[in-house]
Amino acid sequence: MATVTFDKATRIYPGGTKPAVDALEIEIEDGEFLVLVGPSGCGKSTSLRMLAGLEDVNGGAIRIGDRDVTHLPPKDRDIAMVFQNYALYPHMTVAANMGFALKIAGVPKDVIRQKVEEAARILDLTEYLDRKPKALSGGQRQRVAMGRAIVREPQVFLMDEPLSNLDAKLRVSTRTQIASLQRRLGITTVYVTHDQVEAMTMGDRVAVLKDGLLQQIDSPRNMYDRPANLFVAGFIGSPAMNLVEVPITDGGVKFGNSVVPVSREALSAAANRGDTTVTVGIRPEHFDVVELGGSAGLAKDAGLEVSVNVVEELGADGYVYGTARVGGEDKDLVVRVNGRQVPEKGAKLHVVPKAGETHVFSTSTGERLSD
Ligand SMILES: Nc1ncnc2c1ncn2[C@@H]1O[C@H](COP(=O)(O)OP(=O)(O)O)[C@@H](O)[C@H]1O
Ligand SMILES: [Mg+2]
Repeated sequence: MATVTFDKATRIYPGGTKPAVDALEIEIEDGEFLVLVGPSGCGKSTSLRMLAGLEDVNGGAIRIGDRDVTHLPPKDRDIAMVFQNYALYPHMTVAANMGFALKIAGVPKDVIRQKVEEAARILDLTEYLDRKPKALSGGQRQRVAMGRAIVREPQVFLMDEPLSNLDAKLRVSTRTQIASLQRRLGITTVYVTHDQVEAMTMGDRVAVLKDGLLQQIDSPRNMYDRPANLFVAGFIGSPAMNLVEVPITDGGVKFGNSVVPVSREALSAAANRGDTTVTVGIRPEHFDVVELGGSAGLAKDAGLEVSVNVVEELGADGYVYGTARVGGEDKDLVVRVNGRQVPEKGAKLHVVPKAGETHVFSTSTGERLSD
């Protein structure tokens, strides 16, 4: 077991002008499950490959425990990597695939057999040990790839989108299996995905990357409740947070007929930069709907009028996709409603942001202004 440190680690590909990964700083705790997430091309795989030793580090350092591994070859880093395509040897049995790295390392046959059988038990692969990969389902191949990493008992697991070849249902069950397996083994893990739901459900902490730059690193709860900037606010959460640009007024910002409180310091910071607007963020579940009950005492014209365009009924709840007039412009909004009280298409709703559940961001820099 070990900590992992990215210390301003930077990768500039040959011929590139701007870094694919730019001064990445992350300290991962011993035994932690850290998820790197972000859109395609943001530098997730490059970060992981730098840690694995498969990619040169052009600035900064990488440490595993107290060891500076920045310039060590992959084989000396004590890591095991699971790739998206599994990279199984087609001509070898499951057992041979799982034990291959140990065989190369000169581990005695009976020890290999014992470790492979143990991993197979953990992964529910015992009855498949003598099969070739082509006779396995996608989920079973994925588990063989996991098993190959487990038998090596590395200090760190690295996984690059290991579920992306599985169908949706299997992806959900496998992500739970991997997360619980990791907790049982207690091996420090860095897991890469572009899927924010996967990140939020699996990680002890989540690191969001964009254009090679770390945007925020936090627990899933904090990431959701206090996104550090507009990018994270829009990226984490599905359906996405509503983001609406509104004029700055005295003592707060106006959202329809509601005033969203923002600290004076934050507003003057924005005003001092010459901004005349800020961007208010409200998650779909953080509206009270005036006309659908539950908000007694609110005036009928409170908040914002939303015209319902589409209603998505999911059983427990529903999502209203509508349009509202904000600051003289039509703005698309998503509002979560009670699944038993969904409005008709074409209806008009009045929605009020729940107190304490609004986010305010600088429109110009994107940084979070509210507490
Ligand atoms: N071998 C390479 N040579 C040059 N540029 C690369 C190479 N690999 C990746 N890149 C570029 O580096 C950036 C980050 O890529 P990558 O780390 O693969 O992103 P992600 O895994 O987040 O999708 C992208 O702009 C990509 O085009
Ligand atoms: Mg990638």
